[in-house]
Amino acid sequence: MSILFSPITIGGVSLKNRIVMSPMGMNACKAEDGKVTNWHKIHYPSRAVGQVGLIMVEATAVSLDGRTDPDDLGIWEDAHISGLKELVTMVHEQGAKIGIQLCHGGRKSKVPGKILAPSAIPYNENSIVPEAMTEEQIREVIVSFKESARRAKQAGFDVLEIHAAHGYLINQFLSPLSNKRDDKYGGNLEKRYQFLKEVIHEIKNVWDSALFVRISATDYHPDGCSINDYMIYGKMMKEQGVHLIDCSSGWVVPPNFPESPGPGYQVPFASQIKNEVQVPTAAVGIIKTGLQAEEILAHGHSDLIFIGQELLRDPYWPKRAAQELHVSIDAPPSYEYIWNK
Ligand SMILES: Cc1cc2nc3c(=O)[nH]c(=O)nc-3n(C[C@H](O)[C@H](O)[C@H](O)COP(=O)(O)O)c2cc1C
Repeated sequence: MSILFSPITIGGVSLKNRIVMSPMGMNACKAEDGKVTNWHKIHYPSRAVGQVGLIMVEATAVSLDGRTDPDDLGIWEDAHISGLKELVTMVHEQGAKIGIQLCHGGRKSKVPGKILAPSAIPYNENSIVPEAMTEEQIREVIVSFKESARRAKQAGFDVLEIHAAHGYLINQFLSPLSNKRDDKYGGNLEKRYQFLKEVIHEIKNVWDSALFVRISATDYHPDGCSINDYMIYGKMMKEQGVHLIDCSSGWVVPPNFPESPGPGYQVPFASQIKNEVQVPTAAVGIIKTGLQAEEILAHGHSDLIFIGQELLRDPYWPKRAAQELHVSIDAPPSYEYIWNK
């Protein structure tokens, strides 16, 4: 029996297999109101029909001024709940579990007016200089994460993922390259963790299902965070009751990734954190075939496999992976007669 197609329970949520649709921004909110559109209702349930175990909805803005693009999906007000609830129902009806990734863009926000960050340092020479957040503004954003988690629960999501990667606000606090504060939110590693610590703490007050955190396990910069720093951050997350660490990398400062990333280039991060911190992890990044995914799991490098671009190219990627692994998987009922032919 393949590991990829065996069930697993993480944070009390049971998945039928280890395949997760990686969060991918669709820029599909045409009215710039952050509401679910018909595109989302086609895009996500299609992957559930394709037998993905867990669908992770894209980076979703916890506040209007934290959007990374004006057409981002949003969860900053109660008016977003009904559309998200409809999406959850559609995905559940097709036998998959569904999560949502909560995000604030910080200095990478693309919105009119001022943008916020731990320190007034732009991302690169072409970027807007952000405003260094006051403690009051920090508190407001933490509350917006909590309120968004409450809305996610009301919408019926199974999993919540905190976006602490790719150089967005939380990552900006974690990295010494973007956080030059000298108050309780900046300085040594423990202080740079304080913002995420409070976000997790507040979310845990309203969210009792599975909680994942996506990290950038290295900044690819000699003065930035390395995997060794993330081993310490990982331990802190585990102590706070985070159920899984989803291991991506880069995008805090340019250059954002290695010169020529090869297949599974981020897998070693997932492996090191899983095996040394003893916390479940997800591997992501240039994982293209069922055989590659199976091998990662068989070597004990991660517990889940997040698939990004391959699932955009082929919503039925799990069926293809199953064929490679000579596994027969359940068909969507209406396709039963042709599925395994
Ligand atoms: C169109 C697109 C949008 C993305 N949006 C997000 C996002 O919203 N949140 C996130 O954490 N990663 C995002 N990513 C990164 C993917 O989740 C994934 O980590 C990355 O594509 C590497 O996996 P892959 O090689 O299987 O595509 C995005 C990637 C793509 C291609």
